[in-house]
Amino acid sequence: MRDVINWGILGAGNIAGALVEGIREAGGRVAAVGSRDAERAAVFAGRFDIPASYGSYEDLLGDDGVDAVYVATTNELHHRNTLDAISAGKAVLCEKPFALNAHQGEEMRAAAQSAGVFVMEAMWMRFIPATVALLQMVERGDLGEIRAVAADFSFQANAGPEHRLVDPALGGGALLDLGLYPISLAMLLLGEPTAISAQASIGPSGVDEQVAASMVFPGGQVGSIYASFLADSPVEAHVVGTEGRAWVRSRFHNSERLDVVAPDGSVTVHEYPLAGNGYRFEVAEVHRALLAGETESSLRPLADTLSVMEVLDGIRAQIGVRYPGE
Ligand SMILES: NC(=O)c1ccc[n+]([C@@H]2O[C@H](COP(=O)([O-])OP(=O)(O)OC[C@H]3O[C@@H](n4cnc5c(N)ncnc54)[C@H](OP(=O)(O)O)[C@@H]3O)[C@@H](O)[C@H]2O)c1
Repeated sequence: MRDVINWGILGAGNIAGALVEGIREAGGRVAAVGSRDAERAAVFAGRFDIPASYGSYEDLLGDDGVDAVYVATTNELHHRNTLDAISAGKAVLCEKPFALNAHQGEEMRAAAQSAGVFVMEAMWMRFIPATVALLQMVERGDLGEIRAVAADFSFQANAGPEHRLVDPALGGGALLDLGLYPISLAMLLLGEPTAISAQASIGPSGVDEQVAASMVFPGGQVGSIYASFLADSPVEAHVVGTEGRAWVRSRFHNSERLDVVAPDGSVTVHEYPLAGNGYRFEVAEVHRALLAGETESSLRPLADTLSVMEVLDGIRAQIGVRYPGE
């Protein structure tokens, strides 16, 4: 592995541009971009000053100068794109949701393990300094015994029927796009739920426009989450303990501020400025792991990703959302 990681961007969409910035902030080099369309790839390369562009994902994966690939395609392609990148011997940072379901995720993990290739879900929330601080607070017992976690993630998408957010063929739905953040946070703090009860409102395309879930965890803690494309919500998290509670200020998944409220009502504000768009922290973890010769992140291991995928599968079974081919 080289000293500086050379990245290939797979899919020239919206979030891909944000990651280019994050990769550079983390000291990486963006070597190439691949798109289904050569013109689109060239425009993206010009816009972000990327030296090489390709009109297919296959050609990007054939570039020997690329060490790591950022999979930034629509949800239904994460499985195929990641398997292809592993076959090409590239390390992979794959956007959330890691796959459409746990079965696909297991196949991706098995392929990565058998090829000895690094693969990580782009769960950037895990690496945001405020999240890291929250996990440490809970681990130290600063909030006493945790009893409950509540979080929401909703925005008014105004998505037409063909938009990736609501198209079942593209793995649309509020749960996989947004709901996985509050669920991932609750599971980072409390582990795997022992029971889940979910409700959703299903839109005209057949996927969830709004979803809510209650969870119970092994220690008797409860979790409450909701996600929606229909209106803007606070996008906050609350971690409730016997010795105090943490209010993770909006947006909780890339927060810059935790307010800790003591039982007497006094508030201590903790600030964690991002100084950037927040994506560099997950990229830095990929760099660290690759330079150390590791094939998984110890902070976001694939086991954690797959546990979340299983919860998402369980919720989708309850709300009746299935994707083509499932
Ligand atoms: N971590 C985060 O903060 C964050 C934020 C937003 C989204 N995401 C995730 O990132 C992924 C991409 O989201 P985005 O907002 O960047 O979406 P987007 O702007 O629509 O980009 C998706 C890209 O996927 C490729 N694609 C392949 N087949 C497609 C198809 N049939 N229809 C549409 N696009 C297709 C396209 O790339 P080419 O045409 O160039 O091949 C397109 O640019 C999603 O999985 C989403 O969940 C993560």
